[in-house]
Amino acid sequence: MTAPLDIAAVRAEFPILERHVHGRPLVYLDNAASAQKPKAVIDAMAAAMTGSYANVHRGLHQLANETTTAFEAARGATARFLNAGSAEEIVFTSGGTDAINLVAAALAASEIGEGDEIILSIAEHHSNIVPWHLLRERKGAVLKWLDVSDDGEIDLGAFKALFTSRTKIVALTHMSNVLGAPVPARELTRIARERGAKILFDGCQAAAHGPVDVQDIGCDFYVVTGHKLYGPTGIGALYGRKSVLALLPPFKGGGEMIDEVTTERVTYNEPPHRFEAGTPPILEAIGLGAALAWIERTGREAIAAHEAALLAHATEEMSRFNPLVVYGRSRGKGPILAFNLAGAHPHDVSTILDRAGVAVRAGHHCAQPLMKRLGVSATARASFGVYNTHEDVEALMAGLHKARDLLK
Ligand code: ALA
Repeated sequence: MTAPLDIAAVRAEFPILERHVHGRPLVYLDNAASAQKPKAVIDAMAAAMTGSYANVHRGLHQLANETTTAFEAARGATARFLNAGSAEEIVFTSGGTDAINLVAAALAASEIGEGDEIILSIAEHHSNIVPWHLLRERKGAVLKWLDVSDDGEIDLGAFKALFTSRTKIVALTHMSNVLGAPVPARELTRIARERGAKILFDGCQAAAHGPVDVQDIGCDFYVVTGHKLYGPTGIGALYGRKSVLALLPPFKGGGEMIDEVTTERVTYNEPPHRFEAGTPPILEAIGLGAALAWIERTGREAIAAHEAALLAHATEEMSRFNPLVVYGRSRGKGPILAFNLAGAHPHDVSTILDRAGVAVRAGHHCAQPLMKRLGVSATARASFGVYNTHEDVEALMAGLHKARDLLK
């Protein structure tokens, strides 16, 4: 049994939680869009800038060595966070979107051509749709769409039925950013790999809310982004299975990703450096390393248990609130709650909540195909993080009562 979090102590580590919005204490429920940063992250980045900073992998002087050590330590921390087999399986990117674009572009250059098939689910975020649409437009690849239930769950029979001998890759979210629905990643991976297809999981939401073990899943690629993991923006990571990365051609060209450059030809570095052209996001990687260390110290199981309790509380309150529609009630759902107040536009609901100091997202959540599937153009969405409290749930509900009164 995991010890419960000391929420007051956790909150004290996030300076921004002291601020007020429209004269009300901040209730930050937009964690699925981006999470706030603990002092450990802010301090680690400031310490690098004030105490030890230079470019990495290029210099032989003391600061270059120190910064390279810190940067590679962050890669090691990311590998441990995902339980990758080694740090060489972690490529730093500018975020989740960049990581998926890397995989799509590298596969387009190597093995995806006219008529080859890519399986996506209807619940994907645009970052896991548009890179594949580019392959449809530019290479003549075919997108095959997997439907999900109203709760966001996948039917394994329907999944199996989408494969043909032309299926090259399956790209699925590990947890929907709208419905919070997790997918059975291990089972999906087994099915895809048995059929000779690669599989990628977009873990931008899932990794923020519970342990991830890429070796146990067995996938080829797993994508995370730093800013939803209490780290900085501008940094993400692609996990790629060693044997798969080894055969992948480069995505971008530039410094550090080469072995040798002459006027006639170029040879490329080994992964992960082959995929990290140019000066990487050094400070951001150091911040990500600090964020992951902070999450580990705080306890991933404890964070997940706390967020599950908040989700249960909010779901229960919302089920008793009459004109409210909640989207998604899957088993093992993450702390992401999309909803609509009947008869009210989610933008108006969000604006009224904002006046009460409660930050939620409203819109299509960069998931337009899923919105269409759900028969809505937009929803409001409250998403919980480690520092949220049961009082935050009460503040959300009080704000919703106010919205109902004002908008009826
Ligand atoms: N993917 C982020 C969200 O769902 C931006 O809000």
